[in-house]
Amino acid sequence: MVRFRCHGCGADIDAGVHLAFRCPNAGKIDDDIDHVLVVETEAASPSIGSETDPFLRYRTWLSPYRLARSSGLSDAAWVDLVGELDEAMTAVDGHGFRITPMAEQRHLAQALGLQGPLWVKDETHNVSGSHKARHLMGVMLYLRVLEAAGLPAGKSLKARRLAIASCGNAALAAAVVARAADWPLDVFIPPDADDAVKARLKELGAQITICDRRAGEAGDPCYLRFRETVAGGAIPFGVQGTDNGLAIEGGRTLAFEMAEEFKRIGTVPDALFVQVGGGALASALAQGLALARMNGLLSSTPRLFAVQTAGCAPLARAWERLDSVDLETAAKMRSRFMWPWEATPMSLAHGILDDETYDWWAIAAGLRASGGSTVVVDETEVAAAHNAGHLHTDIIASATGTAGLAGVIAKPAAGEKIAVIFSGVER
Ligand SMILES: Cc1ncc(COP(=O)(O)O)c(C=O)c1O
Repeated sequence: MVRFRCHGCGADIDAGVHLAFRCPNAGKIDDDIDHVLVVETEAASPSIGSETDPFLRYRTWLSPYRLARSSGLSDAAWVDLVGELDEAMTAVDGHGFRITPMAEQRHLAQALGLQGPLWVKDETHNVSGSHKARHLMGVMLYLRVLEAAGLPAGKSLKARRLAIASCGNAALAAAVVARAADWPLDVFIPPDADDAVKARLKELGAQITICDRRAGEAGDPCYLRFRETVAGGAIPFGVQGTDNGLAIEGGRTLAFEMAEEFKRIGTVPDALFVQVGGGALASALAQGLALARMNGLLSSTPRLFAVQTAGCAPLARAWERLDSVDLETAAKMRSRFMWPWEATPMSLAHGILDDETYDWWAIAAGLRASGGSTVVVDETEVAAAHNAGHLHTDIIASATGTAGLAGVIAKPAAGEKIAVIFSGVER
């Protein structure tokens, strides 16, 4: 049995009986609690496989795998589930998941005037061109396990459509994974969504709904339509922990890969800079690195720096307000720390302009535990990072995907040895 618990209200669910996505108490009453489901107990001394597919290599670290095994499925059954999706993904997107490269980028470090090494983990060649598909592969494997093991939470699942509100990398990732699983997907996008993204989504068979703002309606119309569809029975297939706590887990494979590589080269960076939008990536990294440390892959934990742009920095605002408030208390008074950014956000790094950092709480925990902080970058730094990435590496990442490096430019003395993640191929 695998249990999930809400870090805000303490609600406890059996992931085989209820979907481990949204806390059952979320949205019932306006209780100001930060409802996010997290796995209750992590795997004890998980092993690392010899495979290069992270969903095989780190399978014992993943709660869907543990659910599979505790529900009577064999290890070979998991390997088959991953293998079938991998094959289908190769047909849909050219390849499935493989460990992505991480290398020291000497020219880039030199160009930025850094004294020590700078490692860049390259996610631009991952499934659908970014790290986002990792989150959704974890969710899809959970759905597949529920079906294969005939668990109560899997009853009539296939009759329900998947849904996501996004017009960028998350939507593309959802569309690839959904197509590979042959599962219908609804994508809710704004009227000004990029034409190339729309075309690819259609090509992948996603059903697109363009969401105009309705008179008198507050909040993001795409998110509101997504919530209505989920309330009508659709499965939340996005990457925000508030709507799908389990989505964070697949993202942790990124941290495991980095930790293993650092162990292999015998070092640990002092600082890891991560671009933050909705917060699932930084939350997954914070949790994944902490687990890697706990299981002996890292001798220390890098300080985590969560990078947002001046155009939209709700996490940085929350971080300042948190000051010395303990996080247990903060989870019960969410609106004191997190609320939608008031101004219409603008940035070259448009993929991290989420008006709320949904996973703020887990990131704050990671910042505190590692001795890190938030970093707010201006547009000159965003552009400088983007240009430097193009000029001094062979990775063609978008400005969103190099925004973590903008944090390094803003705060170069954060550590001697620094790591960043380039994600989101330039389209
Ligand atoms: C390339 C890239 N990097 C980082 C992020 C930030 O991820 P998160 O929204 O989980 O904070 C995004 C989000 O869209 C992205 O597209």
